[in-house]
Amino acid sequence: MKNSINRPRILITHPIFQEGLDRLEQHCDIEYIGDRPAYSPQELLEKLSDKEGALFTPSEKVTSDILQQAKNLKIISNIAVGYNNFDLEAMTQKNIMGTNTPDVLTDTTADLGFALLMATARRMSESERWMRNGQWLKWELGGMLGVDVHHTTLGIMGMGRIGQALAKRALGFDMKIIYHNRTRLSADVESEYQAKYVDKETLLKQADHVILVMPYSPESHHFIGARELELMKPTATLINIARGGIVDDQALASALKNNRIFAAGLDVFEGEPDLISELLQVPNIVLTPHIGSASKMTRYAMMNLAIDNLLAGLHGEKPKNLLNPEAFQRL
Ligand code: DGY
Repeated sequence: MKNSINRPRILITHPIFQEGLDRLEQHCDIEYIGDRPAYSPQELLEKLSDKEGALFTPSEKVTSDILQQAKNLKIISNIAVGYNNFDLEAMTQKNIMGTNTPDVLTDTTADLGFALLMATARRMSESERWMRNGQWLKWELGGMLGVDVHHTTLGIMGMGRIGQALAKRALGFDMKIIYHNRTRLSADVESEYQAKYVDKETLLKQADHVILVMPYSPESHHFIGARELELMKPTATLINIARGGIVDDQALASALKNNRIFAAGLDVFEGEPDLISELLQVPNIVLTPHIGSASKMTRYAMMNLAIDNLLAGLHGEKPKNLLNPEAFQRL
């Protein structure tokens, strides 16, 4: 249902930058969450009942339940490249388009992945905690020994855009690159990154550093658990910049506690922002709060791309980053 002057009504479920609100206000009537706590699923169901568009983030789940009364909804635009918060099948059934924000965050996220790898291998968080506690009394030959990153083997699980951007960085560190992916890359791309395709088990056994950059799906739930951690070298690190739930955090905490692997760097957690206390108790871990894409430039670019997609969909155009083209064709 459009309002009297034909401005589409939209829901914004997460605080955005003022510039984005100003842009949207030129075209739409907005119901904005502001700084109140996140909407519950029941509130989302009610609020979507009179909207034509919505701007979401991965924190809000789109289930068939919350779409029950969404009679006029045309599009939900996600401010993220990952869209495991979308039940895309349920959206398509109701001819609701879903969009995401790829490309604009590739390099920023790869930078964070590499930073986490370096910090983890070289025990940077642990060293800082130790200094802040006043424990640094003298330089020691054997103090805070880490493992090297340069001239080691990087195992990349998920060789999409971000995986390839990581490979590019790794080449500068003279690393050998092995990767595992649902589909093997073309020979040209493999040779550009000097990357060798291997199966999951081989990657886990051979890599000095394993980095996870794959999408979350029911198939990748606990893709790394006790069995996989057992296959890794005791000197290896595990870095997760993909999604919580890909790693079994409980199994990881226990592997770290028992020094089954050297260390881990995590930007994402199952059930985040909550995390299991066991992860906080082990020293050999670097933790960041899902900041892979969090540079000012990139977060603005993500917001603007999500707004472009939303406005295109509301104006009857095909959004650039449409995830379910069937929903557009049927409109
Ligand atoms: C993404 O874009 O998917 C980032 O992980 C933010 O959620």
